[in-house]
Amino acid sequence: MLHFPASFLFGTATAATQIEGGCTTSDWYAFAREPGHVRNGDTPVVACDGWNRWREDFSLQRSLGLGAYRMSLEWARIEPRPGEIDHGALDRYREMVGTLRDWSIEPMVTLHHFTLPLWLAREGGVLCPEFPERLARFARVAAGALSDLCRLWITTNEPNVLAAQGYLLGVWPPALRSPSAAIRACYALLEGHVAAYRALKETRIHEVSVGIAHHLRAATAARPRSVADRLATQTITRLFNEAFAIAQCDGTMFGPLDAAFRSRSGFRVAEARGTQDFFGMNYYTRDVVRFSMAHARELFVARTVPDGAERSDLGWEIYPAGLGDLLRSWGRRTGLPVIVTENGVADASDAKRARFIVHHLAEVARAIADGVSVQGYFYWSLLDNFEWAEGYEPRFGLVAMDYATQGRSMRESARAYARIAQERALPD
Ligand code: GAL
Repeated sequence: MLHFPASFLFGTATAATQIEGGCTTSDWYAFAREPGHVRNGDTPVVACDGWNRWREDFSLQRSLGLGAYRMSLEWARIEPRPGEIDHGALDRYREMVGTLRDWSIEPMVTLHHFTLPLWLAREGGVLCPEFPERLARFARVAAGALSDLCRLWITTNEPNVLAAQGYLLGVWPPALRSPSAAIRACYALLEGHVAAYRALKETRIHEVSVGIAHHLRAATAARPRSVADRLATQTITRLFNEAFAIAQCDGTMFGPLDAAFRSRSGFRVAEARGTQDFFGMNYYTRDVVRFSMAHARELFVARTVPDGAERSDLGWEIYPAGLGDLLRSWGRRTGLPVIVTENGVADASDAKRARFIVHHLAEVARAIADGVSVQGYFYWSLLDNFEWAEGYEPRFGLVAMDYATQGRSMRESARAYARIAQERALPD
């Protein structure tokens, strides 16, 4: 048998915009309303109506006996206009986090999960010179309201994904297609993280543990003998997968480029070293990498899936071994506790999800047996939700959503996950 320690957190993860609905002051709300941005013209206007139905959803999680829940705060809701705090919204978040505590579910709160208040987006979003300071102020507001109830915090979700999707590939707001903007976005997000990290740690009254949810992918050269494929694999690994994580370890993000980076506040990349108390890892898939002249914008990298590999509904390869490899390498490299802050599969039929969870959890348990301090696993997601530019089609949930009626129904895989969490063990 493979075992999980008594303190190991089995949880689920969500993000505000993807489930809450009803927030009209965010950049994603505006973006999704413009035709052509989101598949089928879907918008997050209603989503799962989680802003009103959160208690029902927390009850579903509770009924599964899962002891941790990752959620995010909608910045646009809390600060709909610059400097103007909506205390009603903050109170509701406090009620949510307090309810989790009362029900012995460990909360983990994310400050920035891709979305921004529209007013900040209009000032340039993360490229606005004030972004780091604004995020730090928001962190102080959030900590003031919640830090007595919440120990685990994420400043920023997948900064590398946001920089790529929003600033390089132009498929998310602000829909820029500029390599230089993407690089500047990376630096701005890093500076924002450091500012928010410090702001959260300033609340000395309550001990908080703060990290980033890093998006990491396994990467393998398609043709191992091809120098071009190997170089393309190294490039994507270093520049996309690892840059932020390296910045936290070594205080450098893009090597020589760092020296040229100038921020209004005089922030230097070296200050990022050591600004995480745990290593948060979102893991979904592997890229089998081919060098491709046709993919200049993506650094000449074509991401492929091996023939015959098992895939999710989004076509992503299901590759559990990648999680084990990444846990071992980053656990050793950082010497920090690791938390799998997201791992999940789009699987509308629910035919693959239980096996997906079992195989990924087995990788976690083996990494623990190898000495890596993995402290928790958050399945993405508790319920089906708004999957950004892919709209409502992908189904990641342990709980199935009927968006027409807002009906929720538990999938079989949820019970399989709950059983493992209850037994804290898996057959090897
Ligand atoms: C992550 C992201 C989540 C969710 C998930 C599934 O990259 O943090 O918000 O969309 O992927 O694709």
